[in-house]
Amino acid sequence: MPSTWEEFYAENPPPSDLDKNKQRVQEFCQKQLEHGSHIVLVTSGGTTVPLEHLTVRFVDNFSAGTRGASSAEYFLNSGYAVIFMHRIKSIEPFVRHVMGSKFLDMLQVSSSSNGSPTISVKPSEVDNLLPILSKYKAAQESQKLLQVGFTTLSDYLWLLRAICECLSAFGSRAMLYLAAAVSDFYVPAEQMPTHKIQSQDGVPTIHLELVPKILQPLVSLWVPSAYVVSFKLETDENILIKKARSALNTYKHKIVIGNLLQSRRNRVVFVTTHDESEARLTHSQEQQGLEIEELIVAHLKREHEKFISGTN
Ligand code: PMT
Repeated sequence: MPSTWEEFYAENPPPSDLDKNKQRVQEFCQKQLEHGSHIVLVTSGGTTVPLEHLTVRFVDNFSAGTRGASSAEYFLNSGYAVIFMHRIKSIEPFVRHVMGSKFLDMLQVSSSSNGSPTISVKPSEVDNLLPILSKYKAAQESQKLLQVGFTTLSDYLWLLRAICECLSAFGSRAMLYLAAAVSDFYVPAEQMPTHKIQSQDGVPTIHLELVPKILQPLVSLWVPSAYVVSFKLETDENILIKKARSALNTYKHKIVIGNLLQSRRNRVVFVTTHDESEARLTHSQEQQGLEIEELIVAHLKREHEKFISGTN
């Protein structure tokens, strides 16, 4: 029997940094309310499910956070204030363009006139780095981007609820873009061993419980006036639309974006109660560096505006 969402929160303690993050979110939201901004919560990356309290091992999923990080950039570009709620160490907006050795490869070391080493961007890389840096600096200066991190499923659910409490003040001007890959199974806190599972004790039996579907209280209680967008990931084309529609009927939110694991970078389907449409990138568009998230965000911005004005 899956626990209810109330039981989940009663049985799984909040993360130690919840109060600190709550305060950051409250201050950010207060500022955006004063400016009359539209706001979007982008959830991004996968949640972990720890197998021990002092966690050595955990169950994870495939999500790298690419969808969330690139969408956050396009939302900023479209004038939204963005709360980017992401798995710690997953892909982040702006930084994603210059990750790892790519960044170091953009730099060069030379000697200044007094002989001390100077580090600068290679002239050949300036045109690549400049637009990214300019957009990053603009987001910093406009104070329209707030990043908050989670790791475990429980961190994610606590943080999500805390952010929703702040977003409810925005009414229909808030959008929730739930792109994180949230685990459907977990080990309840009281069933988890404290210490590392020992191999000398033999093959462990790990019993996973079903995670309550958090979209239900989110849509009906926490942010009932907001424009809520959920994602549906499948691997079988034949059940994608059916599952997306079933989610809409169950949770009564505004739109489900269906995607297949295999083609998620170049094709998505927008499913609403009355409509179904597709966004697709051709091979040559992909080669030119176009991203499907640009099309997704443009579509959602239009739909959100119609929703706010009551013309949808
Ligand atoms: O990060 P990338 O590598 O770029 O990949 C992007 C993506 C494929 C992860 C993304 O596009 C996507 O599809 N995200 C949702 C995947 C997912 O978890 O689907 P789901 O069927 O488990 O959940 C559907 C919706 O229910 C989600 O919007 C989730 O927020 C919500 N949910 C999930 C579990 C749960 N217990 N409660 C929920 O409310």
